[in-house]
Amino acid sequence: FWASVPQGPPDPILGVSEAFAKDQSSNKINVGVGAYRDENGKPYVLESVSKAEDILHQKRSNKEYLPITGEADFVKLASELAYGKDCKALQDGRIAVSQSISGTGALRIATGFLSMFYSGPRVVYLPNPTWGNHIPVVEQTGMRVARYRYFDKKTVGLDFDGMKEDIKAAEQGSIILLHACAQNPTGIDPTQDQWKELCEITKAKKHLVLFDMAYQGFASGDIIRDAFAVRYFVEQGHQILLAQSFAKNLGLYGERIGTFSMVCTNKEEKDRIQSQVKRVIRPLYSSPPLHGAQLVATILGSPELYEQWLGEVKKMADRIIAMRERLYDLLVEFKTPGEWGHIKSQIGMFSFTGLTPEQVDALKDHAHVYMTRDGRISMAGLNEGNIQYFAESVSKAVKG
Ligand code: LMR
Repeated sequence: FWASVPQGPPDPILGVSEAFAKDQSSNKINVGVGAYRDENGKPYVLESVSKAEDILHQKRSNKEYLPITGEADFVKLASELAYGKDCKALQDGRIAVSQSISGTGALRIATGFLSMFYSGPRVVYLPNPTWGNHIPVVEQTGMRVARYRYFDKKTVGLDFDGMKEDIKAAEQGSIILLHACAQNPTGIDPTQDQWKELCEITKAKKHLVLFDMAYQGFASGDIIRDAFAVRYFVEQGHQILLAQSFAKNLGLYGERIGTFSMVCTNKEEKDRIQSQVKRVIRPLYSSPPLHGAQLVATILGSPELYEQWLGEVKKMADRIIAMRERLYDLLVEFKTPGEWGHIKSQIGMFSFTGLTPEQVDALKDHAHVYMTRDGRISMAGLNEGNIQYFAESVSKAVKG
């Protein structure tokens, strides 16, 4: 049956983790996948999550199916976190929200829904560069991928003029995907003023905006500040679509928990939309898993655990910022050719180092240091114990 099925390529991000796992070296470092590690390089379970686990264990609730759109408390609390409790559209009951299999699942529901119902151009504009998985998620539902400029190699910053030009030039009513904060892979976000301009441009062009918010809290350590773009666009009347993930900010990677939402014109429209979102979800995975939703609802629903969680997000963000400072200092100390200020100015989990694919390969082959071939590093993979070796290895690779 399958003689003609070719070998598929390794995943550009998760394939790095697979290669890392096979490496026997005791010096090995994985700065590939964007998953938080503590100061000892270990996966980190948030204290607020452990407490919520205890509460759930005591409750011994049943394991019945959830509704297709998910756990009701979770969905309510998660959307308040994203949009803000005072969001008018939320209060009006005109946001259709469903639990999703984390951010990827939310994006898949989005593209599934759009491919069935969107009457505008069947094209999704993605930033260049973007998270690698965005492309197959869009293409697998038969939509076309187009790109807008985002990263300026010369300034190692945002190519805001290029971005605006491309979004303006896109056919009216195109779908524009925007990273809400902590852009992956570049770690470079528009400023609040630039977001305001983008809001106007996309509105004037009647574009449909799809936000991917995988890092709320990780960019600045402040969940409100990081939701600025999403909340501002909604305030300004955009009927956005939103993919929300709790993988990073609650450290719930393997629980696969998030939401997909759509801001509608009114409640009646929301009900119609939600009935069709259910039809997208049902054949994909029937209904979502229970545990992650219960964990998030327990934390967001308890003032005490919520406060604790906010402190923990800030702690993770601060440790990453400290690693940025340290890496910059070490690269300078080792007289590494080039300008490395961007390591400090970029935000969120990643730094887009500017290392070439050849340098990335050399780091893997000679130093057992693993990263994606675009030169992105997950700052969270660094700690006091490995940063010296990492910086020294990078320095050597750059010097050739
Ligand atoms: C990443 O970009 O490393 C993360 O979002 C993990 C993933 O699934 O790719």
